[in-house]
Amino acid sequence: MASIRLDKLLADRTPHSRSEVKQLLRRGAVQVDGICEKDGTRHIDPDAVTVTCEGRPLASGAHVCCIVNKPQGYICATEDKRHPVVTSLVPEALRVRGLFPAGRLDSDSTGMVFLTDDGDLAHRMLSPRHHVPKFYLIGLARPWEDSYAEQLAAGMTLADGTVCLPAEAMPLPVEGQYALICLREGRYHQVKRMLAALGNHVSSLHRVGIGGLILPPDLPSGGCLEVLHNDVETLLKCQSIGVVSGLIVTNFSSYLINAGR
Ligand code: URA
Repeated sequence: MASIRLDKLLADRTPHSRSEVKQLLRRGAVQVDGICEKDGTRHIDPDAVTVTCEGRPLASGAHVCCIVNKPQGYICATEDKRHPVVTSLVPEALRVRGLFPAGRLDSDSTGMVFLTDDGDLAHRMLSPRHHVPKFYLIGLARPWEDSYAEQLAAGMTLADGTVCLPAEAMPLPVEGQYALICLREGRYHQVKRMLAALGNHVSSLHRVGIGGLILPPDLPSGGCLEVLHNDVETLLKCQSIGVVSGLIVTNFSSYLINAGR
């Protein structure tokens, strides 16, 4: 890699802002090859030297991708004055500058949120053109009715006249009133509004998969996992609702516990 100013490298590969980086340099918290460096204007080749900040090595130059199992009450944002944000669930070593949640879950929803600092990847995931499927395990206030799957597959019209893309859904053979629904778009409160239009009510919503990537059943509520390169490819693929429902049914009690319910 070409040489780059030390202060820029630190701002790119740590969670610190430019002004925080200045202070860290001044405080002597930065070392290059084990020697304290206070000059942020120095040009270095990050592939040729080892830089640490407050004793920790910098994140690698590659983009960071991770998933968190969002607990209730957290919001999908990078900062908020009143609520905790999902980025705070990411361990500091992965919390690079520019990391943001690619897609949203409501504050009272739980489950899989994908975070990355790779804007192109997030765009591919979120762009309506790519129709990346998202799977939701939903708890219902009233029993599932046979007509729901057909109505959802035909493209629901919501109370405000919005016409949705066709969605797949099926009830789950488990104790209680649970179903799995797969959407290929992400409108505001979409699952809740679709079920309301069917005359039901969503009492809990846990996202269990995005594309071909399924939330590990044993990832605790609030837990975070780095997604490695091969799995990023999986993210943009599709998984069939039958395969996802089999996984959910097999691991149902783990999913409920790790949804914090
Ligand atoms: N649909 C909803 O209604 N809420 C979510 O959090 C996600 C999808």
